[in-house]
Amino acid sequence: MRTSIDLFAKAREHERLEQLRAARELDLVPYFRVLEGPTLPVVEMEGRQRIMLGSNNYLGLTGDERVRQGALDALQRYGTGLTGSRFLNGTIDLHLELEHELGQWLGTEAALVFTTGHQANLGALGTILGPSDTVVVDSGDHASILDGCILSRAKLRAFRHNRIDRLERTLEKAAADGGGILVVVDGVFSMEGDVAPLPEIAELCERFGARLMVDEAHALGVLGARGAGSSELLGVEDRVDLRMATFSKSLASCGGVVGGPADVIEFLRIQSRPFMFTASGVPAAVGAALAAVRICRSAEGPPLFARVLDNARYLHSGLASLGLRVVEPTRLADGMEIVTPIVPVVVGDDCKAALLWKALYDSGIYVNVALHPAVPPAGALLRTSVMATHDHEVLDRAIEIFAAVKQRFEAEHGPLPSRS
Ligand SMILES: Cc1ncc(COP(=O)(O)O)c(C=O)c1O
Repeated sequence: MRTSIDLFAKAREHERLEQLRAARELDLVPYFRVLEGPTLPVVEMEGRQRIMLGSNNYLGLTGDERVRQGALDALQRYGTGLTGSRFLNGTIDLHLELEHELGQWLGTEAALVFTTGHQANLGALGTILGPSDTVVVDSGDHASILDGCILSRAKLRAFRHNRIDRLERTLEKAAADGGGILVVVDGVFSMEGDVAPLPEIAELCERFGARLMVDEAHALGVLGARGAGSSELLGVEDRVDLRMATFSKSLASCGGVVGGPADVIEFLRIQSRPFMFTASGVPAAVGAALAAVRICRSAEGPPLFARVLDNARYLHSGLASLGLRVVEPTRLADGMEIVTPIVPVVVGDDCKAALLWKALYDSGIYVNVALHPAVPPAGALLRTSVMATHDHEVLDRAIEIFAAVKQRFEAEHGPLPSRS
């Protein structure tokens, strides 16, 4: 018997198709825009210069001569690709040096380098968790965390974003599930830029016998005196069991890492399918990441971390002074206020977010747009982010453009959400 279901129907009839078609006709799609040069504070994009407020190049190291040289040296020595898995012919001495340096930086016994951060999450979660375990995630966790949980087939329990009371109740339920428990949170949440209350989370994990994993993708090279991330800043490094990070943000490259106890990392090395059954990152990516890690760990690191956070404060106060609703820095229970390089402007409505994005783009600023499911429904954001290499002059220019665009936009489309 033939099936009457066409597998491709979902590609031809999905709910966003009409929306996408209309947006394309009006040139309103904020995605897949083409960059025509390096990611600097001002970039060349689709035929003109635009201020880059949509990059994760937090320390601006993609333009650093030593990082570029690290990539070039690796390219010269090892060629363009390794054409094999880390497990087989794809490990070079640069991987081992990088794992050693990252382990030291994170303060973990061992570290394992993956080809991307997405694969690091998949590889850690999909291997350490099994169908008889429970994984507890924050509802704002990154998609790669969810993908890793799904891969593991562990029981998935989500709690409301950054709500410790909800985590406690979820852990009560998880304890009754009868298997091992892992709590996984982003240290800095990728869209809103807010920070997880790690001391309270660690305390609950200890009380319930759960292991804790923190994704430091947006925190490594930014937060903490050593730049070792949110776990360092919040003083819980010795209470976090697994730390994950990516090279595609502050480290100006591509790749990922998981740090943790030596026996667990060894287990991943020989069991993790997203580690074993994919090609190793290209030598240039590994060489660049290693050079970037060395800069972060040198005396040059702390001033760079301070500069990106100073720029974040500067842009935040500039945008807020225009009356825009900018996500506030996280205030922890002890009153500590944490700024991150992610400075999101709340728009709410998807269509308005696309229109505002286009008005900014046409006026010379590139920002990222976050729509559902990257954010909750009706929670569209313009996700702006800064680099250490932005200067106040460029940020002032961006704020002036925002002011002019806001005025024109509100005259035509009504008020944008304002500061409450
Ligand atoms: C919080 C978080 N985790 C993991 C990843 C995946 O990292 P990568 O880009 O290296 O695949 C990202 C990247 O977007 C992220 O924001």
